[in-house]
Amino acid sequence: MEYELIDFKIRGDERGSLVALEGNGDIPFEIKRVYYIFNTAQNVVRGCHSHRKLEQIIFCPHGSCDFILDDGKERITIRLDKPYQGLHIKNSIWREFTNFSDGCVVMVLASEHYDEADYIRDYQTFKKEVHHD
Ligand code: TYD
Repeated sequence: MEYELIDFKIRGDERGSLVALEGNGDIPFEIKRVYYIFNTAQNVVRGCHSHRKLEQIIFCPHGSCDFILDDGKERITIRLDKPYQGLHIKNSIWREFTNFSDGCVVMVLASEHYDEADYIRDYQTFKKEVHHD
């Protein structure tokens, strides 16, 4: 499974903690889009898609959730529960996210503008495109 967990640099002092993220630096690509998810209903599963080109860093600045990653061969679950730790994933990974804690905020930094044509929303199509099944 190709993914990376990145620990962001924390600038902490007696007042508290601050994380600053710059594109092409702390974030290994130019950030073209930021979106975030909050007010999530309980027991829902979001995501359920893959991308053809997009690269993303995903983290929970508040609360926690589970990220399920599937590359067509294996399926793993990563718990995002640290406001200073980002999950870096590229294309060709099927992702689902669930088990949102109360008040959870999921923040996503993306390498491209929104483009529905970059989405693969059907799992069998994903399997065919990734593994030529
Ligand atoms: P959706 O893909 O269902 O979200 P998730 O992957 O979390 O399940 O997106 C919900 C709606 O928001 C859908 O109509 C597409 C739209 N959307 C945008 O307009 N821009 C964006 O950057 C994103 C991520 C979604």
